Amino acid sequence: VENQSSQTAFTAAAARAAHLIVDAEPYIFADTVAEAMLGDRAGELLAYHRLHGDHPVLAGARAQVLIRARVAEHLLGESGVEQYVILGAGLDSFAYRSPLARELRVFEVDHPATQAVKRDRLAAAGLRPLTDVRHVPVDLEADRLLPHLAAHGFDAGRPAFVSWLGVSMYLTREAVGATLDQVAELAPGSRLVLDHMVPAGLRDAAGQTYVDLVAPHAAESGEPWLSFFAPDEMAGLLAGRGFGAVRGVDQRDALEPELWQRTDALRPAKLSMIVSGCRE
Ligand SMILES: C[S@@+](CC[C@H](N)C(=O)[O-])C[C@H]1O[C@@H](n2cnc3c(N)ncnc32)[C@H](O)[C@@H]1O
Repeated sequence: VENQSSQTAFTAAAARAAHLIVDAEPYIFADTVAEAMLGDRAGELLAYHRLHGDHPVLAGARAQVLIRARVAEHLLGESGVEQYVILGAGLDSFAYRSPLARELRVFEVDHPATQAVKRDRLAAAGLRPLTDVRHVPVDLEADRLLPHLAAHGFDAGRPAFVSWLGVSMYLTREAVGATLDQVAELAPGSRLVLDHMVPAGLRDAAGQTYVDLVAPHAAESGEPWLSFFAPDEMAGLLAGRGFGAVRGVDQRDALEPELWQRTDALRPAKLSMIVSGCRE
């Protein structure tokens, strides 16, 4: 199973774990259980950050992953909803860490192979969820989301908060559109937060360097980047499906300015956008 499971789920969790080890305060996001979830891979995956943490690829990966997690959990906390759907959850640790989790029912959606690996990791680390977590196996390229959610106890009559982080770039544009169609059918008051990468002309030097260095590895390891969206294009996809209050921020604008006063290697790049919207 480990073969077909997502490697990027591990690299994202490693980036969150490494933040608390190699970066300096002020922390952007404190994922206190990511390291435990990595289990016997923690040594190997954290060594890259320990030894080369200032490298643009590793610092760039940490920035991207930390910013989106911070923004998403902040918006979730403000939303007041009782159902949280995590699309492409990977090794997301919200349900195992956040006090907010107690107020929510959590639906973790991912490929079954990645879910199986996560379950093994949780068991090995003795990590228990703080709330009711449903693992909903879905291939976003092939399956319709809502029937699968419903089959796992999701209440389509009540609003939900949906996070979709670090996933859109791995999907075809058709699958991104089809997933947005499904999320647009959620009950009024539902909210969505996602991140997407921007196309070449809209990146700065740091963003372009990151893509030049990482894209070939992503493709080789079987998880190629397939989709890039300009900010106004993604805003249009949301608005066209009836989402209101659509807001997109780049990495710099996603954080309070004080958080960019840093002594470590984390810097904002023009590379990815974090977009939120409300189903009205
Ligand atoms: C980079 S990881 C991000 C994980 C997590 N959201 C995070 O931010 O740490 C990408 C995740 O998307 C999932 N994914 C990619 N393509 C998918 C698909 N077609 N259907 C369901 N999940 C998919 C992978 O299995 C993986 O867990």
